[in-house]
Amino acid sequence: MDIKTIYETMEYGPAPESRSVADEWLNSHAKLGLFIDGKWVKPLSNQYFDSTDPASHKKLVSIAQADKRDVDIAVAAARKALPGWVKIGPHARARYLYAIARLIQKHARLFSVLESLDNGKPIRESRDIDIPLVARHFYHHAGWAQLMPEELADYQEVGVIGQVIPWNFPLLMLSWKIAPALAMGNTVVLKPAEFTSVSAILFAEICEQAGLPAGVVNIITGDGKTGAAIVDHPDVDKIAFTGSTEVGRIIRRATAGSGKKISLELGGKSPFIVFEDADIDSVVEGLVDAIWFNQGQVCCAGSRLLVQEEIAEKTFEKIRARMEKLRVGNSLDKSTDIGAIVAPVQLKAIENLVKIGVKEGATLWQPSWKCPDDGCFYPPTLFTNVAPAHTIAREEIFGPVLIAMTFRTHNEAVALANNTRYGLAASVWTENINLALDIAPKLKAGTVWVNCSNVFDAASGFGGYRESGFGREGGKEGLYEYVKPKVEKEFSTIPYSFVKVKKSNAAAKGKSIPDIDRTIKLYIGGKQTRPDSGYSYPVYDADDVFMADIAEGNRKDIRNAVEAAHAASKWTLMSGHARAQVLFYLAENMAQRKSELASRIELSAGCSAKDALVEVELSIERIYLYAAHADKYDGRVHNTVSGNVTLAMPEAVGVMGIVCPEEFPLLSAISVILPAIAMGNRVVVIPSETMPVPVMDLYQLFETSDLPDGVVNLISGKKEALAEVLANHDDVDAIWYFGTKEGSQKIEFASSENMKRTWVNYGKHRDWTDAKQGSGAEFLRHATEIKNIWIPYGH
Ligand code: NAI
Repeated sequence: MDIKTIYETMEYGPAPESRSVADEWLNSHAKLGLFIDGKWVKPLSNQYFDSTDPASHKKLVSIAQADKRDVDIAVAAARKALPGWVKIGPHARARYLYAIARLIQKHARLFSVLESLDNGKPIRESRDIDIPLVARHFYHHAGWAQLMPEELADYQEVGVIGQVIPWNFPLLMLSWKIAPALAMGNTVVLKPAEFTSVSAILFAEICEQAGLPAGVVNIITGDGKTGAAIVDHPDVDKIAFTGSTEVGRIIRRATAGSGKKISLELGGKSPFIVFEDADIDSVVEGLVDAIWFNQGQVCCAGSRLLVQEEIAEKTFEKIRARMEKLRVGNSLDKSTDIGAIVAPVQLKAIENLVKIGVKEGATLWQPSWKCPDDGCFYPPTLFTNVAPAHTIAREEIFGPVLIAMTFRTHNEAVALANNTRYGLAASVWTENINLALDIAPKLKAGTVWVNCSNVFDAASGFGGYRESGFGREGGKEGLYEYVKPKVEKEFSTIPYSFVKVKKSNAAAKGKSIPDIDRTIKLYIGGKQTRPDSGYSYPVYDADDVFMADIAEGNRKDIRNAVEAAHAASKWTLMSGHARAQVLFYLAENMAQRKSELASRIELSAGCSAKDALVEVELSIERIYLYAAHADKYDGRVHNTVSGNVTLAMPEAVGVMGIVCPEEFPLLSAISVILPAIAMGNRVVVIPSETMPVPVMDLYQLFETSDLPDGVVNLISGKKEALAEVLANHDDVDAIWYFGTKEGSQKIEFASSENMKRTWVNYGKHRDWTDAKQGSGAEFLRHATEIKNIWIPYGH
């Protein structure tokens, strides 16, 4: 372009980033190997595939296709390295993570250029966002490694971690996975995505340079089959995955019952909500960050624009004007706003969804200019006149395509925002802080950005609800994905119990239990209800003497209970103090009925009267514990780096299914119900099948303790069958299951449908009389989700 033309058009000239250092690296790495046990090896299959630059379709390098055999060797190397990595201790681990952070900074430009060449993302983004955040992640977690003994004293490493990552932020996703894993003393086998493996290989070289002990980090390249081999490997203790919901579901099913810990960060269809008093120019720039950052290939992309009707047309006009000025082109040009789509298959997927959008009647708008035709390019696209039922309003497009809808009232905005099976992120735009902070808690999303979008930091957690997956990455909350409680060692395959007294000694035999011959009903929505089936089943005491008939709940009763629990949403909105009052009162009422409850336990469990009383006393104490926590389980204020304050708020998960243990019937039920309701959840409880009486008795306490109707619902019956109904239920947000190993497998498998959170015991039993095993922060963490709310602060 000559100077005269530049003056006439005011066009940008090309500003290419030099690729010579990257080319040198690529030329010396024509065939990339696998990094296993600190060595570079060829894949046993000797198969390779090409990695190409999506902006030019030119081949960059050959990538090794690892198979199951390579995965076996890598997992064995990680296992072998584990004891040494644990033993060197937190401070030494902190030093290694710091060394990695420094080396990434030293090679930042090489990383950026390689990342842009391999992925197609603009150099401005890889240089200014991806790679600095990668270094930040390693620095931040060097700190967590150092602080582990102080901050996570009751926890230890999980073990060997299998990690599978996507192609949209190749090195950043690697750092989100590897930094916390190493900080907490784990070793890893990581597979980058097949489209974008290059920066992971350079990272492995950095690990070598840092002198990381062999086997602590193993990098395996390959396709989905290689990923599946990691997921299925029996010697992997945890899987961390980021990618599509479809593969996330496969992983959930494949690992069900294996005892592998998993965290899944999946897709999204995040709302970008604009209220009429928003600053529209900021909104437009926010949208550029939300949907045109990384070509819209962002799991938390603000892809659903919801605008208040009064300002809709004006906003659309400004957006179109801005879109007209966006520049699509070569990823290494510093004036490129939107780079190349990662691969032809992804481009095709975007084109198909856009065609469907047009066919279903939405209005398409694209800028007047054409994209370069020598690579995988797609123009920024806006759809208006979109209805909630349209495919493009529901499906993740994962491209630079924004769909817009309008709303009239605040409630409608919230309803539209939450009308998705995902729940990853949301952003709220208004100049009114009261409105922003009124809307934020109502959004079902793991991250809420106020007047900003797509800001990330290592100090903040990130992760979703529902089909966006579970688990958090980043911040203190993210560390829990890579540790397990030390107390787990004390769990037993044989249930703990009080000593059974001999039949002839059973003091309770002589005791008369009033109204024991009644039929015990279900408890749904605050009412004692006959079971839908019309059946009941007999329950016997420890001496096999008939005790009572118990209602046999079925699928319909569970459905009614879930509905009742949903209707009790006021409980979630009540203050912690108000909930605490109800719970303290519950404890007071239990104390008054101590001897009656104890005699039921004595009969059911066949223990001594003294032990039965101990169980009731411990139950009362546990109620006190969670009443105390109801207004004290605070979140954190994360110290994020970007002119924001980030509130990490623990929120109730929602409607939970709780399947109670068989042993210590009253104490164990209290131990699992109380943390859940103290945190504001509403629960559907399936009591012990063999000793339901002491649990079902609780409804009399609930009725007299001001517990609002529907907060706790009790459904007795065939435990395993009822548990599966709960796990399959789409409107249940989480399920806790304390039963058998097989039952745990079924629950995890069935829960994959709506990706509900699960907490199961794999047939291992806790001693519920031991406060360390039977109570504490672990319970509260499983009863809450952390929502990170980013608010501009100190600009
Ligand atoms: P994907 O979910 O298939 O791939 C992600 C990673 O999982 C890759 O490393 C892949 O090799 C691996 N993988 C594939 N099948 C596997 C299996 N059965 N077991 C274990 N690992 C497996 O995503 P893909 O095909 O690259 O993209 C498809 C769609 O997924 C995109 O259009 C987008 O909608 C979504 N996606 C979401 C991402 C996110 O950050 N949430 C990232 C990438 C894609």
